[in-house]
Amino acid sequence: MKKIILLTAVSLFAASAALAADGAALYKSKMCGACHGAGKKGGDLAVCKMDKAAMVKYMKDPKSVNPKATMPAVKGSDEELGALADYVLGL
Ligand code: HEC
Repeated sequence: MKKIILLTAVSLFAASAALAADGAALYKSKMCGACHGAGKKGGDLAVCKMDKAAMVKYMKDPKSVNPKATMPAVKGSDEELGALADYVLGL
């Protein structure tokens, strides 16, 4: 019986780790690096001064923050956008 409980706990842990959004992987898969980086048109995000909430808002709808924004809105769940913002803040 103990073994079954332990196995269940281990598999639940593995499943939640796999589900957690990975900011670095999202940054790659959503092609942020195509426009962002030193010398690119979107600029280097390492110098971005926004906090997490502002960044998530910007990603969802850039024009709501800056009417002149040319960046396309980023599609993703709140969890994914939050993970992306955490990743960008750590750059
Ligand atoms: C097609 C090009 C393009 C792509 C792809 C893109 N961006 Fe941008 N981004 C821009 C441009 C250009 C700006 C500068 C302001 C504007 O015109 O919107 C910007 C601005 C930003 C800003 C605000 C920076 C600041 O300090 O003002 C953040 C944060 C940001 N981008 C994050 C991201 C993330 C995260 C991704 C990937 C999910 C991404 N961008 C994908 C072009 C892009």
